Amino acid sequence: MAALISPSILSADFANLERDLHAIKSADYAHVDVMDNHFVPNLTLGLPVFDRLAAISPLPLDAHLMIDDPDRWAPAFAEAGAASVTFHAEAAQAPVRLARELRRLGARAGVALRPATPVEPFLDLLAEVDMILVMTVEPGFGGQTFIDGTLAKIRRARQAISDSGLDVWIQVDGGVSRSTIERAADAGANVFVAGSAVFGAEDIPAEIEALRDLASAHTH
Ligand code: DX5
Ligand code: ZN
Repeated sequence: MAALISPSILSADFANLERDLHAIKSADYAHVDVMDNHFVPNLTLGLPVFDRLAAISPLPLDAHLMIDDPDRWAPAFAEAGAASVTFHAEAAQAPVRLARELRRLGARAGVALRPATPVEPFLDLLAEVDMILVMTVEPGFGGQTFIDGTLAKIRRARQAISDSGLDVWIQVDGGVSRSTIERAADAGANVFVAGSAVFGAEDIPAEIEALRDLASAHTH
């Protein structure tokens, strides 16, 4: 399976988002962290900014909604042109209805799990989603340390997906860098979000390539 790299613009320069989207254009997606200061203790950007990013981005947008009431707000991100919209399992009232709505609007539908949220309740519903996002840090901030305890959940999710025969992606987000990406790939992840590792690098395209190469050698 090809490894996909989705740099998080949370670590970009918010006064130069267009420039920074171009800086990562060799990646597969741009990961956009939407935080509402309710679901997580941090506030980033909302729909008006996302709309403009979708209009000018040279690469597809991967929206990660760390917000309360995604049932109400998430479809608008698909309508704005997100290629993928991921909402949190802990926040959604009706995850299957919401995933179906996102797909109907033409986006890939993702469900995100905090580190302490089990994947098991979703294993019978794999056909309803395109991606499971296993958070490898507590959501809210960039630059945190990868939680190795999440690897077992990635393994169980990958096993269930391969048993099902479905093509569901597993994304990891948080603390992903050259030193952690291989074990996430080994466990079964195939989409890798990296914020500080990419935007903190001296040579951004080289960092994206290095991460992709390390992950590709370990995806199965
Ligand atoms: C954290 C966000 C991440 C964050 C990752 O809640 O969802 O996307 O930007 O940042 P790093 O790669 O620095 O851990
Ligand atoms: Zn994220």
